Amino acid sequence: MTHVEHLDGPQPFDKSRNMAATAPKFLSVWDIEAYYGESYIVQGVSFDIHEGEILALLGRNGAGKTSTLRTIARMGDPELRHGEIWLDHKPLHEMRSHEASQAGIQLVPEDRSIIPGLTVEENLKLAQIAPPRGWSIDRVYDLFPRLRERRSQEGVTLSGGEQQMLAIARALCRDIKVLLLDEPYEGLAPVIVQEIAKTLELIRDQGITTIIVEQNAVAALKLADRAVILDIGRVVYDGSAKEVLEDEALRAKYLAI
Ligand SMILES: Nc1ncnc2c1ncn2[C@@H]1O[C@H](COP(=O)(O)OP(=O)(O)O)[C@@H](O)[C@H]1O
Ligand SMILES: [Mg+2]
Repeated sequence: MTHVEHLDGPQPFDKSRNMAATAPKFLSVWDIEAYYGESYIVQGVSFDIHEGEILALLGRNGAGKTSTLRTIARMGDPELRHGEIWLDHKPLHEMRSHEASQAGIQLVPEDRSIIPGLTVEENLKLAQIAPPRGWSIDRVYDLFPRLRERRSQEGVTLSGGEQQMLAIARALCRDIKVLLLDEPYEGLAPVIVQEIAKTLELIRDQGITTIIVEQNAVAALKLADRAVILDIGRVVYDGSAKEVLEDEALRAKYLAI
């Protein structure tokens, strides 16, 4: 287990890191600080991810998970005032949200943001309206057969699980490199959680990198390769997901499970 101190993150400009016998990091978040107005919320968060990894970003309610995802997606709120975010050698920290999206960051927010008045298929087509496009709608339907069955149904009338599938499907329709999922299992029955987890494994098999934020920490840890735990806007753990599952004291301290 690695307990990480503030400012102890990776150094993107340190050339010696490139000499290491490990694969280059695909997404590097380095010492990011973000604010809502004058409220200092993301307090120097650093971590990085290899391509094709699933990372569980965990922590108690209010720890700063959503704020961290929104900062990576360059939503503007919270405002990034310090630090760097690199995706495949591209400086996300210099981008606005639409540029980050074009660079391959797709955020699926907690409310899933399905567009009312549009069918399932129209929601997917809308995601493809501007280049760069990602997966074809047929490929997405192969991954989510339930969406193919419901293609003509209005998106907001789907069940909670199907709406989550649609939200993920829509992200895949854009040219995606990193999928950011905010509480995808919220309000879903265990059997649906399992179904979505299986799909996320298939998506990983296709080489897509995922950060999953979840209150259902056990489900997220079972899926993830690695875990980062936040507490009061800082990283307090960065290590293997399996270690967190096995470390009761750590879970009790930071996850209350
Ligand atoms: N729009 C906002 N304006 C001001 N403070 C916010 C806003 N959104 C979240 N916060 C505060 O930021 C902190 C982290 O919130 P959040 O990132 O949503 O945590 P988590 O997703 O881990 O539950 C909390 O103290 C929350 O009250
Ligand atoms: Mg949140």
